[in-house]
Amino acid sequence: MCGIVGYIGSRPVLPVLLDGLSRLEYRGYDSAGVAFMQGDRIRICKKKGRLAQLEQALSEADLGDMPIRAGIGHTRWATHGAPSDENSHPHLSANGRVAVVHNGIIENYIELKRYLCAQGCCFHSETDTEVVAHLVDLHYARDCAGDLMAAVRQTLAELEGSYALGVLCADDPDRFIAARKDSPLVIGLGEDGHFIASDIPALLGQTRRVLIMEDREIAVIEKNQVRLFDALGRPVCREPLEVQWDSAAAEKNGFEHFMMKEIFEEPRAVRDTLTRHIRRGTLELPAIDWPRALRQVCIVACGTAYHAGMVAKTVIEQLCRVPVVVDIASEFRYHDPILDEETMVIIISQSGETLDTLAAMREARRRGGHILAVVNVVGSSIAREADTVLYTAAGPEIAVASTKAYSTQLAAMYLVAFDLARRLNRMSDNQVREQIESLLALPAMLDAVLASQDEIQRFAASHFNAHSIFFMGRGLDYALAMEASLKLKEISYIHSEAYPGGELKHGTIALIEPGTLVVCPLTQPALVDKMISNIREVKARGALILGILTPSCQRAADVCDAVFMLPDVPARLAPVVAVTPTQLLAYYMSLNKGLDVDKPRNLAKSVTVE
Ligand code: G6P
Repeated sequence: MCGIVGYIGSRPVLPVLLDGLSRLEYRGYDSAGVAFMQGDRIRICKKKGRLAQLEQALSEADLGDMPIRAGIGHTRWATHGAPSDENSHPHLSANGRVAVVHNGIIENYIELKRYLCAQGCCFHSETDTEVVAHLVDLHYARDCAGDLMAAVRQTLAELEGSYALGVLCADDPDRFIAARKDSPLVIGLGEDGHFIASDIPALLGQTRRVLIMEDREIAVIEKNQVRLFDALGRPVCREPLEVQWDSAAAEKNGFEHFMMKEIFEEPRAVRDTLTRHIRRGTLELPAIDWPRALRQVCIVACGTAYHAGMVAKTVIEQLCRVPVVVDIASEFRYHDPILDEETMVIIISQSGETLDTLAAMREARRRGGHILAVVNVVGSSIAREADTVLYTAAGPEIAVASTKAYSTQLAAMYLVAFDLARRLNRMSDNQVREQIESLLALPAMLDAVLASQDEIQRFAASHFNAHSIFFMGRGLDYALAMEASLKLKEISYIHSEAYPGGELKHGTIALIEPGTLVVCPLTQPALVDKMISNIREVKARGALILGILTPSCQRAADVCDAVFMLPDVPARLAPVVAVTPTQLLAYYMSLNKGLDVDKPRNLAKSVTVE
């Protein structure tokens, strides 16, 4: 989703901006642009399409020799108005004095636009953002006697919705302004200048010292100083955070795609997530404030994180005998959820910035729920607002299709389940210790799966032309099938559905034709006989079966047309290991079709609009 960068300092500004934008590409975008201070005016260049088009346009522009002192840049993921040069950011005020980049949605932009038109402003785009440029300019000249900070503050007071903003003003060339509300924005502190960006990976090429902006804060960014203010204009003092991720963690390291690199990082990521919370064979989680009388657990998330929640539901219910509901964050707020102080709410989010998830978390808090967040990005909004945070250690995930984040979310949720089971006396210390040992064996099993990845590669090479692929499983295998199906859709654009083994015959089996591929994770020995029957039902209609099997489900191999063997993983932990071949399948399907694996069409990595 939209990404923002900004820089003021003594390094060449355009390369810094373009480097930052290229590191934001993974968030998903359809156009890009920059605005920069040259001499006493703002110059602007923006293009629909990939960053390469913007770079081309900049290389063809006559930039002269005058130094460029500061600039802001943007990758746009269209919401208001189609992808086009005009709708791309930055947006300029009519006189060219103010340039603005924005992430988020200005919900009252129609009223503001009407007001500005009545004041004589002409609009050049269909975006909600353009009102911000005109408003800042209007207040700057009319109400604030040339005080840029005051003009931005007056503008922000009139905006409804969410924003991360970078504002450049031609009359005030030695600084730019940054502001945020409900959209992420971080400030990078460099040796020779300062930066802003939508997320930390975008800054890693420049600095690892960051200030994370809080909601409604405004920052004045200058070459030699950064000043931070709260919504009332009072100065804010905040210690910078030293980011542990290094720049290499956000690079491909010889892999063709980030997605493949990130799949291969799963053993390391799972190991790090576990060892961070395990000391000498026992759990060492942050103190989770489980309600004394726990009535239910409510897991809220979107996309892949929601699917991790589906696995966790089964595991927690089996181990702890506490009811668990799993809710899609964008639905949660609108169905009047039943929760109270006896409910534990677990929020799962890789980025910690998904707006629906953040909004759901706030609603859950309003209703009295205790909030535990399982988050990957340190210092993200969800991490900051939750009562307790359990960090996964996936490291930066760049590919839009989430892989290692899912594996680490599962790892973290097992730890949560064991912690709760222990507290409720459903498991003894010894049983927890045994489970921990099994968990610690998972990274080696993931290594073994990855060592056989060429089997999946070969399989994909002969099936990538499929029009439709079904995933079928029971119990935890169904939860896993949902994630496997999402992965395939996301990056191969092949229609796919995931079904519980027994449910297909209630309608969807009508879609099975001779040759239809049905992928079946088979890791639950207690359910394997039922699955064999379900497989026979689709095979009788001509389906072709790829079984992803653990040795304990070996007897299902006879009904499969192709088999990928998993290591001997305990049934309860199987999703962590069984997901990897399905991720590889999605990857190779996409690769064979010649698609953009890391940046699939229409999708964004970090969804910061509702
Ligand atoms: C987007 C991403 C998905 C991700 C979902 C939730 O849709 O493309 O990969 O699972 O958001 O993101 P979160 O950062 O909250 O886990």
